[in-house]
Amino acid sequence: MSQEQPKKELSAIKGTRDILPEEARIWQIAEAQAKEIFTLYGYRELRAPIIEPTELFEKGTGASSDIVTKEMYTFTDKGGRSITLRPEYTPSVVRAIIEHRLDLQPLPLRFYYIGPMFRYDKPQKGRYRQFHQIDIEVFGEKDPAVDAEIVEMAHRLLKKLGVENVLTLVNSVGCKKCRPAYGEALRKAAQAVKEKLCPDCQRKADINPLRIFDCKVETCREAASTFPKITDYLCPDCRQHFQKFLEYLDFYGINYQVEPTLVRGLDYYTKTAFEIVTENLGAQNAVCGGGRYDDMVREFGGPDLCGIGFAMGVERLLSVARIEKPRDSFVYFAYMGEEGKKQSLATARLWRSKGIECLVEFKDRGLKAHFSRANKIGADWVLIIGQDELSKGKFQLKNMLDSKQYEGTSEELAELILKQGQKT
Ligand code: HAM
Repeated sequence: MSQEQPKKELSAIKGTRDILPEEARIWQIAEAQAKEIFTLYGYRELRAPIIEPTELFEKGTGASSDIVTKEMYTFTDKGGRSITLRPEYTPSVVRAIIEHRLDLQPLPLRFYYIGPMFRYDKPQKGRYRQFHQIDIEVFGEKDPAVDAEIVEMAHRLLKKLGVENVLTLVNSVGCKKCRPAYGEALRKAAQAVKEKLCPDCQRKADINPLRIFDCKVETCREAASTFPKITDYLCPDCRQHFQKFLEYLDFYGINYQVEPTLVRGLDYYTKTAFEIVTENLGAQNAVCGGGRYDDMVREFGGPDLCGIGFAMGVERLLSVARIEKPRDSFVYFAYMGEEGKKQSLATARLWRSKGIECLVEFKDRGLKAHFSRANKIGADWVLIIGQDELSKGKFQLKNMLDSKQYEGTSEELAELILKQGQKT
């Protein structure tokens, strides 16, 4: 058969990619570690749909954010509704809380979720159009100790996954009380340098100058570095919250840096905002971003329930993680004849129910060909079922790693494999 290259229109869509089995194994390990750690802190999984009404993000993520203005995958469904592939998870959790009255359960509520998100951004290293987030959210806890606890939890996961050279950038973006005065000062400063800004930021200078801080254009960054700092405008409540947050970070011994220009690209944050960056990532250096959003639930028509959370980008996380893939270990069945084949099927069926991975192939082979096949596909064990074995009711089992050979009944050999740690 000719090895034709797949036609271009049959490749994965730009900015998306396949995660093939070798790599998927690493993903499974990272996901399992995340779930284990989150469970230790009392988090439970909440799974929301991938598609949501468009207005959920317009209202939640924010009408002036880059995500909503430029990056959403939005379409009209057959019923004429505007649907969006979620660009982030936080508004979905808020919707689910309100829809299912989860606020009536004992507070605080702690949720986690791992899954795909979609943003129509320019693909580059560390930036995809379909990417994955590990997301956690807490509701109904005002104490700044929880702000520090989630940062500590993020650090625990990063450490567990072998991510090194991380720095946590922290800021407070104020609240409804202190933001107006700051917004005014910022607007003035932005208007004064408006002609130096990129066209997009000139628009932002009029609508929401805070978003200029998200711009990566050098001249805009330079201009933004001269703007007033939100930390100079915090109301006493926000100031105290920020100080306590830093105090708890010190208590946990977390290496952080206060970054007054860190406002994060989403409109909903109040008080705490943070990002964990690593120098090993290159330009897209944020592996984790999060913060407090004390008004979102109420603004969606729900109860007065404060929220805080973070999301880690799984692709970025795995590009800097050091995860050892355990050896896959399985038994290859080297059988002869139809009777040997049936005995293999029966034995494999029994052994699988004991938790032993078994591979019975259906191609007729001689013993030598069976062994070369077992070698090629990396079997740890080969079970030989030939005429001799069938008449004796005892089989030969070869450990391919140390070449030792054993004889025994199906029960005895299964026990031996399990004892020697067939599965990791
Ligand atoms: P975010 O900063 O937009 O926050 O995204 C969080 C993380 O997702 C980023 O730090 C990055 O690692 C990853 N990420 C974002 N966009 C991409 C992309 N295009 N390709 C690859 N990775 C990406 C949020 O999404 C908030 N919902 C976080 C949050 C939860 N805040 C409160 N609760």
